[in-house]
Amino acid sequence: MTHQAAIALGQTLRVLAAAADEPAAQVSPDVVLGAHTDLEALRRAAAGADALTFDHEHVPTAHLERLVAEGVNVAPPPQALIHAQDKLVMRRRLEALGAPIPRFSAVASVDDVDVFAARIGGPVVIKTIRGGYDGRGVVLARDLAHAREAVAGYLADGVEVLLEERVAMRRELSALVARSPFGQGAAWPVVQTVQRDGICVEVIAPAPGLPGEVAAEAEALGLRLADELGVVGVLAVELFETTDGAILVNELAMRPHNSGHWTMDGARTSQFEQHLRAVLDYPLGDTAALAPVTVMGNVLGAAQTPQMSMDERVHHLMGRMPDAKVHLYGKGERPGRKIGHVNIVGGGGQGSSDDSEYVAALRERAQRAAHWLSHAEWTDGWDGH
Ligand SMILES: Nc1ncnc2c1ncn2[C@@H]1O[C@H](COP(=O)(O)OP(=O)(O)O)[C@@H](O)[C@H]1O
Ligand SMILES: [Mg+2]
Repeated sequence: MTHQAAIALGQTLRVLAAAADEPAAQVSPDVVLGAHTDLEALRRAAAGADALTFDHEHVPTAHLERLVAEGVNVAPPPQALIHAQDKLVMRRRLEALGAPIPRFSAVASVDDVDVFAARIGGPVVIKTIRGGYDGRGVVLARDLAHAREAVAGYLADGVEVLLEERVAMRRELSALVARSPFGQGAAWPVVQTVQRDGICVEVIAPAPGLPGEVAAEAEALGLRLADELGVVGVLAVELFETTDGAILVNELAMRPHNSGHWTMDGARTSQFEQHLRAVLDYPLGDTAALAPVTVMGNVLGAAQTPQMSMDERVHHLMGRMPDAKVHLYGKGERPGRKIGHVNIVGGGGQGSSDDSEYVAALRERAQRAAHWLSHAEWTDGWDGH
């Protein structure tokens, strides 16, 4: 998806991929095969490039620092990216910056669980400090015994974890912004993200019914963090909206993010284009929404891959829902795997994100389209034949 944007901007991308059939490698004429943990492979990918950027945050910090020392323009720079790689570094920095965050604690031994639980007087969440995604590495403990057991298991495997209070939340939000080295910042409207089993399944842009002052606070927070941390490119600030209407920062991502996929069809400038503009230090693009509401539904691989080919599923979807915008990633279907997404852009003019019926109808259509693509089943029992 970044490549699509690069083509339009007259740029070329070289891709570092572990295998030739990886999604980004499939569409790039210039592929370096190798692991993102291999410094030599990273050097080969970066050789002669104007900038080196990312679509995930798992490249070791030490390698990136090395590349910077060798003159590579790493964007976002490693001292910013660390806050998207290491949840403990991120928590401590956000605390120092006075950003609103859940109470948390580092962990040296299992007994720290009891100390923390007593301090917060409520349920505990255990998180691996590095390497987690899509809810992997996050344990919402049922009780103290479960929390101790989870921490003991991680520590026995040599995996570092932290503890957080389990936030009583109304919903999850995301503040997506971009920042260029020049210092320009741009914010898209704050969205609602819907998670199932720790995986994002749906995004509603903008977040329905979000009070204007909370939306403004979240946007300002995103821009401030991008600036303070020296981010270059897109920054997603994952937020919790608490039951009493406050916002807390969950985590940070410094790359195009699932919560910004709606921008491909629903905003004047997509997050992929904006990421490149920021990385290349171009002026940033207009982030205005093109419709009152856009809903993105993730296509998550079904438990049982359908008999019907993806091609045929796409064909039927197009026949039934001509306004559905399909984005497939060229990945094999596996249960729960993100293999694509669908955007439904609300008709302009008549709707509003405060109109719950309008929002519900768009959400239903996005869900129907995404579910059809993964399961070859219409959620409303419709039969095209
Ligand atoms: N402190 C918390 N309280 C309640 N739920 C949480 C907390 N931290 C994480 N979660 C839930 O787990 C999901 C994944 O956690 P996150 O830290 O974002 O990990 P990942 O790196 O897998 O995205 C969140 O989107 C949220 O639904
Ligand atoms: Mg997350």
